[in-house]
Amino acid sequence: MKNLAQVDAEINDLIEQEARRQATVVRLIASENYASAAVMRATGSCLTNKYSEGYAYQRYYQGQEFIDRIEEIAVNRLKALFGAEHVNVQPYSGSPANQAVYMAVLKPGDRVMGMDLSAGGHLTHGAKVSFSGKLYEVFSYGLDRKSGLLDYEQIRVLARQCRPRMIIAGGSAYPRTVDFAAFRSIADEVGAVLMADISHFSGLCLSGDHPHPLPHAHIVTTTTHKLLRGPRGGVIMSNREWAGAIDKAVFPGLQGGPHNHVTAAIAVAAKEATAPEYIEYCHQVVKNARTLAQGLLGGGFNLISGGTDTHLILLDASSKNLTGKKLAVAMEKAGLVANANKIPFDPRPANDPSGVRLGTPAVTSRGMKEPQMTRLAEFIKQIAEDADNQSLLSAIKKQVESLCQGFPAPGL
Ligand SMILES: Cc1ncc(COP(=O)(O)O)c(C=O)c1O
Repeated sequence: MKNLAQVDAEINDLIEQEARRQATVVRLIASENYASAAVMRATGSCLTNKYSEGYAYQRYYQGQEFIDRIEEIAVNRLKALFGAEHVNVQPYSGSPANQAVYMAVLKPGDRVMGMDLSAGGHLTHGAKVSFSGKLYEVFSYGLDRKSGLLDYEQIRVLARQCRPRMIIAGGSAYPRTVDFAAFRSIADEVGAVLMADISHFSGLCLSGDHPHPLPHAHIVTTTTHKLLRGPRGGVIMSNREWAGAIDKAVFPGLQGGPHNHVTAAIAVAAKEATAPEYIEYCHQVVKNARTLAQGLLGGGFNLISGGTDTHLILLDASSKNLTGKKLAVAMEKAGLVANANKIPFDPRPANDPSGVRLGTPAVTSRGMKEPQMTRLAEFIKQIAEDADNQSLLSAIKKQVESLCQGFPAPGL
């Protein structure tokens, strides 16, 4: 077989350039990571050639003897890893996983409570531009303005008023831990189903650095490509009661054939996550985030909620008289890649918000530890205080490249 370089030199070259980029910059996007070579090998395998509508041992097409075993292994490994009664590994990604839960639990027009996008919730938690905000009646909860924390009593009051059919706990830009037991008590009081979306911090639920959503949540969703270091995919976990409705919502409700190459890679990532080194990795992710946060606070940045308990930091760039976009662009010129992000009660628009979101999953996968986080915080401070100084940004970029050389990117 001709290899990619011979068949399509243009795409091959762009993939190689992206690999070089991932190796030579410091990746601080909280939702990104480095999948292992083993995960990428499974993702790029012949399993992409097979159609397998249905579930293991109940398929509509023949030729499933190996696919069935792969899906069964993926499901069993995730059940064991998270202690879930039921697991569906077929959602194409995190958003389709969430969509399947809506379809399983709700009828169009039903009431849902989720974290507001600008408070740190995900688009699929009820944002107006998403299917979730268009098809359902959404009541969003925010954060306490002063502390930047979830206020469970406020959430309870809102739940009593709107009596939702489903409450979603979890988000994409909330730097603190989520109290699933508190959410469950609110859900029970109003007769709602509790869905936990642990996409961002799923690994921390395994290492004990974040409360575990089970048994509190009736249904749990997660992406597989963030802290879990798997392929791009989505997983739904639930108790037995919801198993049938969820499976029907994924297939045939929303999807056709599962992506078997992704299923295999999810199985590989789930195996890797059982290793003691993975738990150690998750602990280090949190230690690194705390150290980075300390460095930023010491450098005069205002951090939402005053710090972090997780892998994620949300800084208010206005504390350095910058917009989030301006800081993120300047950081990228200096080899530090993050994303501009809305902050709670942000007066600025989504395309040029006040905040920058930072995360430590990828740098920790490279083996960076506290001393490197202190250095990164110092770089970010220097950039923020002189963001138009191109020679400063170039000089930092050189230092970032040499830092990266000491911590080779895994999997590339
Ligand atoms: C909390 C949360 N849920 C769901 C998703 C959606 O995942 P995907 O981008 O794979 O559709 C994300 C993505 O960032 C997320 O942060």
